[in-house]
Amino acid sequence: MITGHRGAAALAPENTLAGIQKAFESGIEWIEIDTQLSADNIPVIIHDKTVRRCTNGKGRVGELTLSELKTLDAGSWFSNEFAGETIPTLKETLLACQENGLNMNLEIKIHNEHEVKPLVEKVVETVKHLNFPVETLLFSSFSHTALAYCQDLYPEVRRGFVTKHKPSNMLDTIKPLNLYSLHIDHRILNETLAKSIKEMGLILMIWTLNDPKKIDKFTAWGVDNIITDKPNIF
Ligand code: G3P
Ligand code: MG
Repeated sequence: MITGHRGAAALAPENTLAGIQKAFESGIEWIEIDTQLSADNIPVIIHDKTVRRCTNGKGRVGELTLSELKTLDAGSWFSNEFAGETIPTLKETLLACQENGLNMNLEIKIHNEHEVKPLVEKVVETVKHLNFPVETLLFSSFSHTALAYCQDLYPEVRRGFVTKHKPSNMLDTIKPLNLYSLHIDHRILNETLAKSIKEMGLILMIWTLNDPKKIDKFTAWGVDNIITDKPNIF
């Protein structure tokens, strides 16, 4: 399977509805997007701690209200074609996925540990309120505590652990999380590690692979799902 990273980050501004549209047009099954809370506790879709890189504004995402975030242009930094694109809410992206028949890998983006509880609670509330089908949803996070809290609040939704470190005892520490998948930086994956992940019964996902020449190597190692910025060529 192919997942569009941050929507389709090479084709449209990352984490926008335009990106989800590009992913859909590429004919893929999944998108990955990052969520965190606005100052007024609305889950919004943005990767960085601040709005600087991906909008024309400045300040921390968590210190700006939704209406302040919505005044920002989240498209022009990428190209003029996307001028006026805004930071979407989680609700808007869930609806866009449903309309387009896309599965959503929702990365719970934790910049500070104290964000875990309020963010997971709001995410779960939003997903439940929309009756978003759990079979088309996957929560993921670099944060163990976020995944554990997702398991407490909404165990029916699958969970994936995201990592960029070679595991020493990592494969043991994640066992209690009862995970569906492991999402590993493709640069640190090797055949032996892939084998041990698969032997744990986990779905193996890699990020962020943009060179299609490497697809065969990874699929031969048992990789199930490739997260890419370029879903069109994958
Ligand atoms: O979820 C996979 C990947 O998105 C993790 O890294 O920094 O792009 O959110 P990042
Ligand atoms: Mg991400």
